[in-house]
Amino acid sequence: MSLMQRKPIASASESSGMARTLGVTDLVLLSIGAVIGAGIFASLGTAAAGEVLKDGTIVRYGAGPALVVSFVLLGIVCGLAALCYAELAAMIPAAGSAYAYSYATLGELIAWIIGWDLILEYAVGNVAVAIAWSGYFDSLLSGFDIHMPGWLIHGYFQAMKSSDPAVELAIANAPRIAGIPLMINLPAFLIVAAITWLLCRGAKESARANAIMVTIKLLVLALFVGVGVMHIDTANYHPFAPNGWRGIHQGAAIVFFAYIGFDAVSTAGEETINPQRNLPRGILIGLGICTLIYVIVGAVATGMVPYNQLLGADPLAKALQLAGLKTVSWIVSAGAVVSMAAVLLVFQYGQPRIFYAMARDGLLPPFAAKLHPKYRTPYVTTIITGVFVACGALVADDAATYDLTNIGTLAAFMLVCIGVLVLRIREPERHRPFRVPFVWPVAGGGALACLFVMQGLPSSAWKAFGIWLLIGLAIYFLYGYRNSVLRTGKTLPPLPELEGPTH
Ligand code: ALA
Repeated sequence: MSLMQRKPIASASESSGMARTLGVTDLVLLSIGAVIGAGIFASLGTAAAGEVLKDGTIVRYGAGPALVVSFVLLGIVCGLAALCYAELAAMIPAAGSAYAYSYATLGELIAWIIGWDLILEYAVGNVAVAIAWSGYFDSLLSGFDIHMPGWLIHGYFQAMKSSDPAVELAIANAPRIAGIPLMINLPAFLIVAAITWLLCRGAKESARANAIMVTIKLLVLALFVGVGVMHIDTANYHPFAPNGWRGIHQGAAIVFFAYIGFDAVSTAGEETINPQRNLPRGILIGLGICTLIYVIVGAVATGMVPYNQLLGADPLAKALQLAGLKTVSWIVSAGAVVSMAAVLLVFQYGQPRIFYAMARDGLLPPFAAKLHPKYRTPYVTTIITGVFVACGALVADDAATYDLTNIGTLAAFMLVCIGVLVLRIREPERHRPFRVPFVWPVAGGGALACLFVMQGLPSSAWKAFGIWLLIGLAIYFLYGYRNSVLRTGKTLPPLPELEGPTH
C-alpha cells in the first residue's frame, strides 16, 4: 500500500463518548492557558534586541520597538492557520491535533512527519520554557537576596554564546571536568523532573486550575503594563525600527513562540458544545486577546528601556529592575514562575499522548502506549519525555531552542493549511460543520505566510530542522513503515484506553 495511504475520516473520528461541556469562554480560557508563557515573558527580549555572537557574527537582527508590528503580523498569520485548524477540528472532532488531521487528509508519511514535528513543538518547546522558568526563578530568588552560583543557572551552550560579563565570570569560576567548564541550568532540570513525577502520578490541569493560572498571568501582565507605562521614555521609541523590515521579520520568527499553543484548543473538539460554532470562535477570540496583550506588553517593555537591554531570559523583570521597580519586578517574576510551570505541565502532558496516538497506529512500538498499573497514566512515554526535556534544559541555549521549536511548529501549521485545500479537492461533498471562508486565499495564504515566517529564522535552525527530519524519516522507514496498522493491516495487541483526549 502507498505511503500516501489515508486513514478514513470515519475511523479518525470515532467518538470516545466524552461529555460535551465546554463553551466559547472555556475554550478562550484554555487557549490563554496554553499560549501565554515563555514567548512573552522571555523570547520577547531576543526578538527586540537581536542576537550577536561573541565573535561579532550577527545571528539575527532585532525588531526594536517595531516588535509590536511583528506581533500584529503574527496574529494575522496564526489567524489564517487557526481557521484551517478549526475546519479540520470541526470535521474530525474526536481525533484532535495536526497529527490525526493529516493522517486523514495527506496520508501516513506526512502524518508521521507532522507527528515528528510536534515533538519539536511540545518537547523541544518545553526545553525553552524550562530555561525561561529558571531565568525568572533566579530573579525571584534575588528578591530574597539569594544568589545561586552562575554555573548552576546557565546551560553550557547558552553560556558559551553569551558575551554578558556576569556569564563570563560564571564560566571562569565554574568547576571543570577534563578542562571543560561545568555550566548547567539546575533549576530548569529540577522543575521538569518535578512535573514529570506529578504527571506519572496522574496530575492534570483541571479547568479550575487553568482558570486560576489564566487569572494570575493576566494580573501580572496587567501589573507590568500598569506600572511600566508610567516609566516609558518616548526617546526609547526612536528609532522605531532600527533594523527595518529585516528586524521585524527576524524578530517575528523567534517571538512566534509566544503564539504556540492555540492549536491545542482544537484537541478539545470532542468536549465542546456545538463545536462547529464554538470551536472556531473560541480559537479566534483567544488568539485575538493574546495578540492584543502581546502588543501592549511589547510596547511598554520597549518603551521602558532601550530595546537592546532586553536581552536575557527574564526581560520583563529586567526592564522593571532597570526602572528601579524592584518589588514589582519580584511580583512579576513570581507570576511568571507560576504561569510557566502551568505551560510546562500542559505540554509535558500532551507529548506522551501524541506518542500514544502514534503507537496506536503502529507507527511507534507498543510500549509507548503502556499505562501505569496503578495511576493509569502513559508513564513510559511520560518518563522518556521528561528525561529528554530535563536533560535538554540542563545544557541548551534558549534562543536556539526557540528557533527549532518554531520551525517545526510552523512546518506543521503549513501542512495543516495545505491539508484543508487537499481535502476540499478530494472530498468536496463531505459535510463540513465549519468551512474556512475564502478558502484559497486563507488556506493558501496561511501556508505561504508560515513559510515566510520560517524564512526569518537563522540558517542554524534550518540545518537542525533538516537533521531532525532525516532522523524522523529513518525511524519511519525502519519501524513505522513496516508496522503501520493501516498499511500492513496488522492488528496490534489490544491497547489500553487512555483517559482524556489523545491528540
Ligand atoms: N506559547 C507558549 C509560551 O509562550 C508555548 O510559553
